Amino acid sequence: MVLLRGVFQFSCFFLLIFVVCCSPPEDHIKCSSKNTDCTITNSYGIFPDRSTCRAAEVAYPSTEEELISIVAKATENKRKMKVATRYSHSIPKLVCPDGEDGLLISTKYLNHVLKIDVEAMTITVESGVTLRQLIDEAAKAELVLPYTPYWWGLTIGGLLSTGAHGSTLRDKGSAVHDYLTELRIISPGGAEDGYAKVRELKDGDQDFNAAKVSLGVLGVISQVTLKLQPMFKRSITYLKKNDSDLGDMVTSFGNEHEFADITWYPSQRKAVYRIDDRVYTNTHGHGHGHGLYDFTPFRATASVELGIVRTTEEVQESLSDAAGKCLGAETVILALETTAYGLSNNGILFTGYPVIGYQNHIQASGTCLDSLNDALITACAWDPRVKGEFFHQTTFSVGLSVAKSFIQDVQKLIELEPKAMCGVELYNGILMRYVKASSAYLGKEEDAIDFDISYYRSKDPLTPRLFEDILEEVEQLALFKYGALPHWGKNRNVAFDGVINKYKNANEFLKVKRVYDPFGLFSSEWTDQVLGLKNSVIIDKEGCALEGLCICSQDIHCAPKKGYYCSPGKVYKDARVCARVTSKMNICEEEQWGSQDFTFGGIKI
Ligand SMILES: Cc1cc2nc3c(=O)[nH]c(=O)nc-3n(C[C@H](O)[C@H](O)[C@H](O)COP(=O)(O)OP(=O)(O)OC[C@H]3O[C@@H](n4cnc5c(N)ncnc54)[C@H](O)[C@@H]3O)c2cc1C
Ligand SMILES: *[C@@H]1O[C@H](CO)[C@@H](O)[C@H](O)[C@H]1NC(C)=O
Repeated sequence: MVLLRGVFQFSCFFLLIFVVCCSPPEDHIKCSSKNTDCTITNSYGIFPDRSTCRAAEVAYPSTEEELISIVAKATENKRKMKVATRYSHSIPKLVCPDGEDGLLISTKYLNHVLKIDVEAMTITVESGVTLRQLIDEAAKAELVLPYTPYWWGLTIGGLLSTGAHGSTLRDKGSAVHDYLTELRIISPGGAEDGYAKVRELKDGDQDFNAAKVSLGVLGVISQVTLKLQPMFKRSITYLKKNDSDLGDMVTSFGNEHEFADITWYPSQRKAVYRIDDRVYTNTHGHGHGHGLYDFTPFRATASVELGIVRTTEEVQESLSDAAGKCLGAETVILALETTAYGLSNNGILFTGYPVIGYQNHIQASGTCLDSLNDALITACAWDPRVKGEFFHQTTFSVGLSVAKSFIQDVQKLIELEPKAMCGVELYNGILMRYVKASSAYLGKEEDAIDFDISYYRSKDPLTPRLFEDILEEVEQLALFKYGALPHWGKNRNVAFDGVINKYKNANEFLKVKRVYDPFGLFSSEWTDQVLGLKNSVIIDKEGCALEGLCICSQDIHCAPKKGYYCSPGKVYKDARVCARVTSKMNICEEEQWGSQDFTFGGIKI
């Protein structure tokens, strides 16, 4: 460790000189010549279907005027466009323009804070401003955004477009888009508008509910104004309990604490409750009230360590070593628990709960972003340039009224397969966060709790994972039995099958889309599929269920050669999952219904 730090400091110094003179940082957009003939992925370097996206060109506007002229020119030429952000953190293929002539409009340099109105308590920023920047700038004026995602690296344009959120049941809920007061958006226009139309929308305007969460299909958001609050402090205590009453606790806990969230470890049968409330700014707790949250999994990690962890997981998978995974998970979680998940009382040390600190030091983190140019000695855990984490993420919100039943169904599955979730626990378990019903047409339909589940993904798409069947069953339970809504910026394809039917205002959204972008220049095959305008997101091919590209209806969708067959769920009988079948009798049963065709369109539940 000491050695590593030494090397790290040396190379940082060395690189600084080197980078400044010659080589730009690696980017998720790669072009063969200057800004043309490009490919784009997300920050994980891969989409759910493992395809690569092409774009003919990328443009980097740094002012709204430049942005308008770029949109106008592309509109005149009927070019497909998509907005790309600084890092592109969304998992699905939202960022891909279709066709050969596509144009990417990057908001990397549209990153200026335009105005802070202390009196009105608002901040106006360009859409490429990151959450980290927004938090820092607002804090300088003693103002804060009360509820945000937990990760610094998101841009305001990106997080709004996918409905990103933190956790609360207070006020208008935890989604950032519900604190918007104004938004300027540049869309294709006719010749009479000079081929680009600038719209300024305010809270209360008819189209505002469409533009707040738009998946990027209405045009480019150039700037937004958000409502802030006076600076406050928070007091945080993590409390670990067994999970036997989790289903009963879920709603009451969310109502009791303003920033409540829960991390659930189903195989350990434990839940960690984040008791997190607003306190007076003269409150100190341990450490003079200068607490800091630097969430450990978002810190820079040594690439060597990431490689060891990944190799261990690969070996456990190949040996079906469930016990090894459980042991590993216990170690990881214990380490997180004893270091308070990255909380410190004074910015350096954790000395005990409660941790009290200013909102801007607690609400989000992501120090691994600072490591991106150190020649990969350290990195964010999922950085595709190093051998590290490689996972699927299934994230959905279950209505609070049915959250208890959903949790109990998952618990029934764990009764049957106690070790099934150890793999998820290696990724720090299931993060549960509160969200509220929103006026945004593509926002949440009801008050709900969002479950965030990460799990092993093999480099080989045809290799099933440990407890493949249980993970698929949980996904289908939520999405189809309980009608959960997927997070727009996460998930595998199956989560979006028929998703638009779950939104009562879908047609209102589509009406606005037809007005703003009549030729669908900001739409792609993916957004058309998701919005129900084109065939489906489902990809039918060998092994498709393993990658969440389909729900199996035939054995070939699983991995029959490796002993995984398409089978009914254990608790949710309507589920169709890839299960490892060992006895011959089971196989016969499988074949009886395996020939039938089951459909699982979002709303057909
Ligand atoms: C480590 C990590 C932690 C995360 N934590 C959270 C969390 O706590 N809560 C949560 O809800 N989500 C979280 N997410 C998911 C994240 O919120 C979404 O993936 C988010 O949309 C990504 O923002 P981005 O700026 O990277 O946008 P991108 O992924 O690049 O873009 C998303 C979409 O928005 C469009 N878009 C972007 N900017 C504009 C614009 N200016 N105008 C029009 N369209 C635009 C893009 O074209 C694309 O369609 C996390 C993701 C990661 C990787
Ligand atoms: C879980 O904790 C409760 C008290 O909160 C206790 O009554 C119960 O017996 C515990 N269950 C198990 C399985 O340990």
